[in-house]
Amino acid sequence: MAHVPEANDTNPTSNPSLYDIIDAGLTRRRLLQAGGVAAAAAFVAGRPSPAAAAGRRVALSAAPAPAAADASAAASSLLGFSSVPLTGADTVTVPEGYQARVLLAWGDPVVKGAPEFAFDASQGWDVQALQAGMHHDGVDYFPKRAGSSASTEGMLCVNHEYVDQGLLYTDGMATWTVEKVRKAIEGHGVSVVEVELDDDDDDDDAGWRVVRNSRRNRRITGSTRMRLVGPAAASPLLRTALDPTGKIVLGTLNNCGSGTTPWGTFVTCEENFNGYFGWDGDYTPTAEQARYGLAKDGFGYRWHEFDPRFNVRLHPNESNRFGWVVEIDPYDRNRTPYKMTALGRFKHEAAAFRMTADNRPVCYSGDDERNNYLYKFVGRDSVRKARSRGHSPLTYGTLYVARFDAGATAGDAMGTGEWIALTPEHPALAGWTIDRILIHARLAADAVGATKLDRPEWVATAPDGANYVALTNNSRRTTPDEANPRVATGRGNAYGHIVRWRENGDFDATTFEWDVFVLAGDPTNPAALDGATPGGNINGDMFGSPDGLWADPSGRLWIQTDISTSTLGAGPYANIPTNMMLAADPSTGEIRRFLVGPRGAEVTGVSMTPDGRTMFVSIQHPGESPSEISDPANPQALSNWPDELPIAAGRPRSATIVITRDDGGVIGA
Ligand code: FEO
Ligand code: CA
Ligand code: CA
Repeated sequence: MAHVPEANDTNPTSNPSLYDIIDAGLTRRRLLQAGGVAAAAAFVAGRPSPAAAAGRRVALSAAPAPAAADASAAASSLLGFSSVPLTGADTVTVPEGYQARVLLAWGDPVVKGAPEFAFDASQGWDVQALQAGMHHDGVDYFPKRAGSSASTEGMLCVNHEYVDQGLLYTDGMATWTVEKVRKAIEGHGVSVVEVELDDDDDDDDAGWRVVRNSRRNRRITGSTRMRLVGPAAASPLLRTALDPTGKIVLGTLNNCGSGTTPWGTFVTCEENFNGYFGWDGDYTPTAEQARYGLAKDGFGYRWHEFDPRFNVRLHPNESNRFGWVVEIDPYDRNRTPYKMTALGRFKHEAAAFRMTADNRPVCYSGDDERNNYLYKFVGRDSVRKARSRGHSPLTYGTLYVARFDAGATAGDAMGTGEWIALTPEHPALAGWTIDRILIHARLAADAVGATKLDRPEWVATAPDGANYVALTNNSRRTTPDEANPRVATGRGNAYGHIVRWRENGDFDATTFEWDVFVLAGDPTNPAALDGATPGGNINGDMFGSPDGLWADPSGRLWIQTDISTSTLGAGPYANIPTNMMLAADPSTGEIRRFLVGPRGAEVTGVSMTPDGRTMFVSIQHPGESPSEISDPANPQALSNWPDELPIAAGRPRSATIVITRDDGGVIGA
């Protein structure tokens, strides 16, 4: 995600930040001198908890391990591809022996009967509502028959995070109308498309394709009717003039990362929802609205000028109806999407799942803004029990927030941690109702002393029971000292890092152990050398600003970067012109670059077929300028990916791509 002020910091509390704790821990354990990778390897080699085994069984039933699973292979063999060098080429570059093809680009027809894309962006909101949305992000593949391992036909769900108004309209925002607001709203949400592999070698069109005109294809947008369910549904804080029940919402917005539940549904996560809201005239936001970043002009989308529900002064509760995890049935286009209030309201980056030994869901989700928190939801009901009662397993349960402690521990973990339940039973939340806790989860987490994190992005749940969270970057620190070794004057930790933790017991445990898996960076950049950890401690290829994170069934950890377009190729990123995807072998700590994106693009969202032989990845905002809004008079200034040949009045398009191996093998192996 770009298009959000990097300096955004709405957390006024004095809660400790993870940096303070990491700094103390680094000093205590002399991790840097020992080498982070060595310590990391020891950590992951620790005993797998019984819960990890339980989680693995469940995970495999949803997504069987590839036939060529390498669990028994030597640790170093997890990465079987050759590293892709950095390049500023305006294309997707993958390793030798691999192919990447565009599968679904912004404007491609989705709903049965939808028109083809008009390259001058002259189509209206009603056409956009039938075509793929903009700014592809999280992507998940679902076998065509639910629960099967079908790997050549299935449903693909793709998030559309936000829109670039410079590309969405022929003349950008030069004029501003209600129709343009509507087109932006319809450009958000999710595309659900049937996909299939044509493996007839004699066919010129062989390969993966979207099944055009499938009756299962569906667009979910910023105006689709959906329900609020769970403990906060019908809360007075969710009621509006248009919806006095507090149970019906129009639309999902800023759909960033995603997840697949163990029972085979898709979840899409609402991240920077605050940016769409604004107000006219005088209005003083409440403390809660300020904590969620609501501002008079939002992020400049100007929706509130024509759609009053986005005017906070007129409809102060409407923004409480965004910032949720939304569950979608990928197989039934008529099924209403559910906003799951039990998982709390914050800027959900993504959602990663586990199952407890007794088959209750656990969902991890980061709140991506500087100095915000990592959360965990533990379901009340087993999948079977929830279904017998006619509700989703995500409907009821307990929301926890993480506190990271440096505390001395046995073994090689650097610290301990606690999951703090956000319930009225917590002394700091006495007098809070559960709906207030969930709707204002950030403030509840502030009150219980959660640990401030540096923009927690995706979480990965690995088959060995370890979990990972990408902390993309942090420019907060300005003064380097022994305890803060990575601080470079004036820009803090520009590269970000990945933290790993392991629950103490089953996945519903309330304590955990954690360490730093890797400190990202560029050891070849002199600008990075003014700290005590020059350029991080990567064992392998350089990268920074980790964002997307996913562990495949074989244990490879896939890392995607979102270096902002204002930073690419400059300062600490002088040697890094484009974003990328890498794979890590957690047992050795080796990290190898697998893919480099086109110019100006972010690489985000990753999924595989159950056989591991096809990978889906989203390429977001190719050609984005440092200002993050394209010039409508020159939309191809930086990129014309993926349409390659210059098309008069054409424009770069976000797209989900499909990656296969020439020999049909497992991706990454
Ligand atoms: Fe949408 Fe935090 O990236
Ligand atoms: Ca992201
Ligand atoms: Ca990001």
